[in-house]
Amino acid sequence: SSNAMWGGRFAGGPDQIMEAINASIGFDQRLAAQDVAGSRAHAAMLAAQGIITDKDAEAIREGLLTVLSEIEGGTFKFSAALEDIHMNVEARLIELIGDAGRRLHTGRSRNDQVATDFRLWVRDQCDAAIAGIAALQKALLGQAEQGADWVMPGFTHLQTAQPVTWGHHMLAYVEMLSRDLSRFKDARKRMNESPLGAAALAGTSFPIDRDATAEALGFDRPCANSLDAVSDRDFALDFLSAASICAMHLSRLSEELVIWSSAQFRFVAMSDRFSTGSSIMPQKKNPDAAELIRAKIGRIFGAQSALLMVMKGLPLAYSKDMQEDKEQVFDAADTLMLSLAAMTGMIGDMAANPDALRAAAGHGFSTATDLADWLVREAGLPFRDAHHVTGTLVAKAEAKACDLPDLSLAEMQEVHGDITEAVFDVLGVDNSVASRTSFGGTAPDNVRTQIASWKERLA
Ligand code: ARG
Repeated sequence: SSNAMWGGRFAGGPDQIMEAINASIGFDQRLAAQDVAGSRAHAAMLAAQGIITDKDAEAIREGLLTVLSEIEGGTFKFSAALEDIHMNVEARLIELIGDAGRRLHTGRSRNDQVATDFRLWVRDQCDAAIAGIAALQKALLGQAEQGADWVMPGFTHLQTAQPVTWGHHMLAYVEMLSRDLSRFKDARKRMNESPLGAAALAGTSFPIDRDATAEALGFDRPCANSLDAVSDRDFALDFLSAASICAMHLSRLSEELVIWSSAQFRFVAMSDRFSTGSSIMPQKKNPDAAELIRAKIGRIFGAQSALLMVMKGLPLAYSKDMQEDKEQVFDAADTLMLSLAAMTGMIGDMAANPDALRAAAGHGFSTATDLADWLVREAGLPFRDAHHVTGTLVAKAEAKACDLPDLSLAEMQEVHGDITEAVFDVLGVDNSVASRTSFGGTAPDNVRTQIASWKERLA
């Protein structure tokens, strides 16, 4: 049998199993648009440098547009014998335009070609992640605005800690997501150098203009070292790292939504649009989207580990191992974008329940710290002593199965004689949150200031 690609060197074709393990066309067809863009830039540069004729460059340009429209229209016949997207596009180009197509690969290798295509693809995904994160931030900000002063329990160890405001809790995620967003911006900036023209590994003897192709493809500059340009996939790892951290944040928020929407909490009601029912239990309305986000993002962490594993043992420059970079990154990017979109929909739709939030905020001795602070301020106790006195009062309330404000003044004075009627002023949840005016604290006025500043930043 003949060999579709290297018939000069090879007498026969590959074994079927060889083709099965070697071909990447099943997945790297997702790089078609980037591959065509890279080839167009390369051909235009070859002509500008006098390496091919303008006539050939024009034929290549038109041929590539035809190839791309065939791919986008679903009429293109992908061939596993042609291994990957690069060879598939080039073979079809040659079929369409003949000899001019055979000149396209001058001064270029699939090694710099794939590195270029993949960078362009990952760069787009950074932009998509940035847009997706900004949309989610806006949804959270909408929630924060609505309930800037709704009181709810703040937790540590998922045990009632101190009252906070709903707006404050929503803005906590806005802050986390802003760091995620900046990680994608940062990754995008770092990856924005062009590998094109590094050729196989050593550069080329043709008088190519790497600045021109870099600029045509929107890169800031060409990669400075040809070995590095074709060898590294750290740009994809940067993307996966940013994606992993963002995904971790989405998963924590998902976990909270699952807890909050339970009948035991009733902090939020998810919309019908983002819930599912049960085939047996008629009353059920399940937060499946939140659960699926929580579960799916493991794929992103897995992708990051997998690509680190692929890369860690490779000597410079290219090894075929690196073909295993793509499926991981494709899947991780798809998972992240879907999760961001689903989370944005859930957050935008969900209805918080201010009454349930407020009722829960008052349970679990959430204002015990306010009581201890009062003892420091008004009775002059050292904080550690105030902590002990308050702890005794909590134990007393617990024994009576009541909350702190339900103890009588007499009962309080049995524990410490200096406690006066005025202590009851600090035991309410509204008073508690209003008093947290330190910078970054949960006081409604602070939260409103933060909301205003985020509205400006996200506009
Ligand atoms: N399909 C290959 C990949 O994704 C393209 C590069 C092939 N280069 C080579 N020297 N075999 O890595």
